[in-house]
Amino acid sequence: MASRVAVGIAGTGSYAPPRVMTNHDFEKLLDTSDEWIVQRTGIRERRYALPEQATSDLCIAAARQALDNAKLDPKDLDLVITGTLTPDYLLPACSTLIQHALGATRAGAFDVSAACTGFLTAMHTGEAFIASGRAKHVLVIGAECLSRYLDMNDRGSCILFGDGAGAMVLAPLAECRQGEIVRTTLGADGAGFDLIHMNGGGSRVPPSAESVARGDHFIRLKGREVFRFAVTKMADLIAEMVAGYDPSEISLVVPHQVNARIIEAAVARLDWSMERVFVNIEKYGNTSAATVPMAFHEALEQQRVEKGKLVVFVAFGAGLTWGATLVRW
Ligand code: UT7
Repeated sequence: MASRVAVGIAGTGSYAPPRVMTNHDFEKLLDTSDEWIVQRTGIRERRYALPEQATSDLCIAAARQALDNAKLDPKDLDLVITGTLTPDYLLPACSTLIQHALGATRAGAFDVSAACTGFLTAMHTGEAFIASGRAKHVLVIGAECLSRYLDMNDRGSCILFGDGAGAMVLAPLAECRQGEIVRTTLGADGAGFDLIHMNGGGSRVPPSAESVARGDHFIRLKGREVFRFAVTKMADLIAEMVAGYDPSEISLVVPHQVNARIIEAAVARLDWSMERVFVNIEKYGNTSAATVPMAFHEALEQQRVEKGKLVVFVAFGAGLTWGATLVRW
């Protein structure tokens, strides 16, 4: 068997669109309050893409920053992989628009669809390409324009979500010398299909005047049921990633920013303190595939990640899908 190439994180980037949607803005639209939203979710505001922006535009900004930080040229890229549930078009892939805009002329490009687990799915795919020697530099992105798919009359869902993009450039560890990907896991259970889904717009319920009138293109969720699943799954995944390591080796957990209460409950189950957990949901809400790479980039900027220590990424979402990664920074 060919030896496995160790893979690292050469650079990160993040982009949040400029339009701020606060809880007070929702108070004007719906029967809700800043107090309820903060208490139940931890969210104070989220960003929405400008009318002229689509998901690839957010990705391009995050990707340029990640390439700059990695000190690499777009022409160095072998692959672009984007995890998103809100691509610019159903056809072609969002990644091809990004590849072209960046001038990544040597790169292949495709999207992965795993909802909030989309970034970790893209990351694990990129890691596998490099580990097997089939690629050297892979740009992986998690990005969403969820604001385009929110039912602004459904207070149980619309207040949760925002838009944004996070990117990473993966490279052989021997070259980038940081961020070794040590462990990965991905899982799924399609029995949970109806907990979070968009009924319309695909081949089962193609877009029509009737489907749009019914609001079939909006995100629907069973929040309470997702909540229960999420707490246990997040705790189990973190435990799986750190098994066998001394707790003093763990620098930071970067979880999917789903709901501050879910994150706190999962961490309490593990008997850990929130000091070692990165949360920025108050500023961005749940940006689905974008939460983990945006949060990790911000954690690095804030110097929350200790050199040589371990970082855990953990996410789950519609499908149901889930994933986790252990990185030695
Ligand atoms: O990334 C994966 C996608 N994310 C999710 O699936 C979200 C996971 N779930 C959650 O974050 C939480 O379940 C929610 C934030 C969605 C809801 O919080 P909760 O503590 O589970 O509330 P609940 O659904 O049990 O609702 C409690 C009450 C209800 O009123 P009644 O029936 O008790 O009179 C809701 O109608 O809160 C009401 N409510 C609201 N009130 C004010 C629901 N949304 C709102 C709102 N403002 N925005």
